[in-house]
Amino acid sequence: MRRPLRIGLIGLGVVGAEVARLLLVEQKTLSAQAGRPLEIVAYSTRDPHKQRGVDLSKLPWVASPAELAAREDIDILVELMGGADGPALEAAEVALKARKHLVTANKAMLAKHWAHLFALSKKHHAAIMFEASVCAGIPVVKVLREGLAGNRISRISGILNGTCNYILSAMAERGIEFADALKEAQNLGYAEADPTLDIDGWDTAHKLIVLAKLGFDPAITLEQIPVKGIRDITLADVQAAKVAGKAIRLVASAEKKADGTYAMEVAPKVLDAAHPLAPVSGPMNAITIDAQPVQSCTLIGPGAGAGPTASAVLADIIDLARFDILLEGPLYLPR
Ligand code: HSE
Repeated sequence: MRRPLRIGLIGLGVVGAEVARLLLVEQKTLSAQAGRPLEIVAYSTRDPHKQRGVDLSKLPWVASPAELAAREDIDILVELMGGADGPALEAAEVALKARKHLVTANKAMLAKHWAHLFALSKKHHAAIMFEASVCAGIPVVKVLREGLAGNRISRISGILNGTCNYILSAMAERGIEFADALKEAQNLGYAEADPTLDIDGWDTAHKLIVLAKLGFDPAITLEQIPVKGIRDITLADVQAAKVAGKAIRLVASAEKKADGTYAMEVAPKVLDAAHPLAPVSGPMNAITIDAQPVQSCTLIGPGAGAGPTASAVLADIIDLARFDILLEGPLYLPR
């Protein structure tokens, strides 16, 4: 077997703890999938003593994420801290400059610093992998980069936030108030550390930007998207829609127009029951990609939560473990 892939892990929240747990408990199976042992070498989190259902006490804890990113004994940095700037960005920069591949779920950081991070990736021949940044368990990044690589994409649309979809469907299906549904989504580990990112539509916008950069043009920026969230939607709104045979969903869309410009939007929509997004319920997400020659392709799956997000992180780690030996530049270049 090839030498181990040595992992530095920063961030042990809901997702980080699940990734660590699976890397320890499923070590044998995951290593067999990867073709080489996968080993967490060290980790960084604010409070190493907090109970998380995973025992990392035998591994070195490093207080500073950037210090961990610079360690010579790691091959890849797995960043699951979140935050567009600050320690997550600093650690990502340190890792890429030291030619360590980066695996991240951090859509806010990618949406804001895409050009900068991919310039570092290119310059230092270190890959950035970010399947977990969009729609958790749905492998949409892989689909855009690989499965549809030969297509001209005309439209990307769908439900990209599990928390909002959970809230809207809980209000419709169980008649509970917005604030109670949000609390449930937080307890289930769906919401961001700052849930206003979810309910005000920004988390959806960050994901739409990542998809639009991948599918259309890396130069597209967040400022081009009008963003409206679901904060003002009341139980009465949701129930009135239900009585009329409709459903309210937070919908994201990005379309390439005939003149080459883009129409993009994040906003709640009242959908007819027959609309394909109307029955998408709970933390599920759905994405439709219209493209030629494939025509149209829809992906549906869990868009938030520890397990589904860990699934995406593990896929990226395994990809790197398999292909690292062939790597001469960024694993994938944006279109
Ligand atoms: N807060 C996000 C959501 C987590 O609810 O979709 C997954 O990105």
